[in-house]
Amino acid sequence: MSEQNSAQAHTRFQPEARGPLATIESLDHEGRGVARVEGKTIFIEGALPGEVVTYRTHRAKPNYEVADVDQVLRVSAQRVAPPCPHFGVCGGCSMQHLEANAQVAAKQRVLESALWHIGRLKPEILYPAIVGPTWGYRYRSRLTVRLVPSKGGLLIGFHQRRSSYVAPMESCAILPPHVSALVPRLRDLIAGLSIPDRVPQIEIAVGEGITVLVFRHLQPFSAADQARLAAFADAEGVQVWVQPNGPDSARRLHPRKAPGLAYTLPEFGVSMAFRPTDFTQVNMWINRVLMRRAMQLLDPQPGERIADLFCGLGNFSLPIASRGAHVVGVEGSAALVRRAGENAAANGLAQRSEFYEANLFEATEDSIAALGHLDKMLIDPPREGAIAVVKALGPDAPRRIVYVSCNPATLARDAAVLFHEKGYALKGAGIANMFPHTSHVESIALFER
Ligand SMILES: C[S@@+](CC[C@H](N)C(=O)[O-])C[C@H]1O[C@@H](n2cnc3c(N)ncnc32)[C@H](O)[C@@H]1O
Repeated sequence: MSEQNSAQAHTRFQPEARGPLATIESLDHEGRGVARVEGKTIFIEGALPGEVVTYRTHRAKPNYEVADVDQVLRVSAQRVAPPCPHFGVCGGCSMQHLEANAQVAAKQRVLESALWHIGRLKPEILYPAIVGPTWGYRYRSRLTVRLVPSKGGLLIGFHQRRSSYVAPMESCAILPPHVSALVPRLRDLIAGLSIPDRVPQIEIAVGEGITVLVFRHLQPFSAADQARLAAFADAEGVQVWVQPNGPDSARRLHPRKAPGLAYTLPEFGVSMAFRPTDFTQVNMWINRVLMRRAMQLLDPQPGERIADLFCGLGNFSLPIASRGAHVVGVEGSAALVRRAGENAAANGLAQRSEFYEANLFEATEDSIAALGHLDKMLIDPPREGAIAVVKALGPDAPRRIVYVSCNPATLARDAAVLFHEKGYALKGAGIANMFPHTSHVESIALFER
């Protein structure tokens, strides 16, 4: 009798078992348990490999179903009690029920599986995972605010799982402790403003020694509101910014004069200034180690010209230039291109860097060739990946490419083009646990030809 049949037989003697029964074979890229039941694939949220569970389906398609775990009849040795009281409701974390090292192993399998199933590729070397603190790591976050009188008034938190509703929270263990402690005080602050229903979001950015709160508002704050916000900034030791429109409209309200946000990469002797609404890597510990790994793999040398595509504010560009190479940064956001240039100048690296604004989703062989001869290339695209860039690589393309990815599926797709069409070998790949307790997989890969 198969394990599943035996479990099914077993359930007849389990009066508490409610839904259909499944034996979990693996985890998928969203951290859901995967089972096969009567030829159909069932993705079960909250279930772990090796477990026998009952489940409740909330989406049924001809070939698959998506379900929530109901009861765990055989418990995985890797299951742990989620420490956060909001786990299961809040959409912020989906893997707190899996022991931290097992999360890392699961993410490595997601990367290997994507490379194989999408790209038909196996890396020559699997790099050791880059890991760091598993709590208090999220230096950038966006809290949603809603006034819902029927739910007791002002709600503040992340979105609920599978919903745009707010999962109200009192604290959050993946935020730095001093930010988590602000959550209930922020709720009281906004509840006391004249427009509590017109402040839909608070963006939080933490730099070294500085915390900035950006209050998005859909109506002007009154003078009394501004005084309350300023008093909050003083009491909590934070900067309060206000944002009436898009990200560029954000401006500091209080204190009027204050230092700007920045983070350092001590190993490379550089400091990056940023605005609170700029893209920055959320996990500063992992960013530092990822940077070391990226520079080891890229190995910038004096005299080389190296492209940093999707360069943002110069996170990888400045370390490349600090190693003596000349960096050519390309980025889609004009504000970030400006910031990268300012950061290069502030770090004495302007002579070895140039930055351009371009839409890299529309890269062509001509636009890449226009960057001039490149010895090496670093690519760090958003989730959509860099398919136009890899397809645009011509005969004079760089011999070495380091690809930093936040989506294994698009990395695997692009890697397939590099390997099968452009003649690159996949020398190595590995994950960085940038977002512990979530299913997000950050990874780094080295290609050479
Ligand atoms: C994952 S972030 C990496 C940023 C930077 N490398 C860093 O480490 O901070 C991806 C970057 O791609 C930029 N981007 C998004 N779409 C783009 C496009 N179509 N063309 C060029 N850049 C784009 C974003 O503005 C963002 O800065």
